[in-house]
Amino acid sequence: MRAATLEDLTTVFKLLETAKLPTAGVEDHLQNFVLEFENDVLLGCAGLEIHGQAGLLRSVVVTATERNQGIGSRLVQSILAHAREKRLSSVFLLTESATTYFPRFGFKQVSRAEIPASLHASKELRGACPATVLVMMLGW
Ligand SMILES: CC(C)(COP(=O)(O)OP(=O)(O)OC[C@H]1O[C@@H](n2cnc3c(N)ncnc32)[C@H](O)[C@@H]1OP(=O)(O)O)[C@@H](O)C(=O)NCCC(=O)NCCS
Repeated sequence: MRAATLEDLTTVFKLLETAKLPTAGVEDHLQNFVLEFENDVLLGCAGLEIHGQAGLLRSVVVTATERNQGIGSRLVQSILAHAREKRLSSVFLLTESATTYFPRFGFKQVSRAEIPASLHASKELRGACPATVLVMMLGW
């Protein structure tokens, strides 16, 4: 696992597009993405957007053939450790497809009203459909 660089942008986009996850804003936050590789093939990624004291965990994806081996968990734990190092007060996420995955890391469902004002700068957040997307939060 390693931090992403700008050279990874195209492969990260491909992985996200294959999983039908949003790509808007990824390029602005790529320095806070972690990637899992095997033999130079990208197997998974997870990203953190930092807006003020709040973080947005996003772009959590593992390539379909490599799921259920703990890669997703390692990527999420790495992002959460990074968020704690940065002394963020909370981390939010938006999900339609993995609502029962994130509680294992301590995330709880919250209403959109609980999203801090600073996070509304996020392109991912602005592009999300309020009717279908669940908001989850982890605080410590
Ligand atoms: C969600 C995802 C990242 C999990 O990655 P992973 O490497 O397969 O997960 P792990 O190996 O760490 O964990 C496996 C566990 O998560 C569960 N799980 C995997 N995907 C899940 C999902 N979409 N929803 C609920 N639970 C899920 C598995 O059933 C397994 O459960 P168990 O521990 O009780 O056996 C991966 O399934 C994925 O890329 N999904 C498509 C993209 C997506 O929906 N991303 C989240 C939106 S931000």
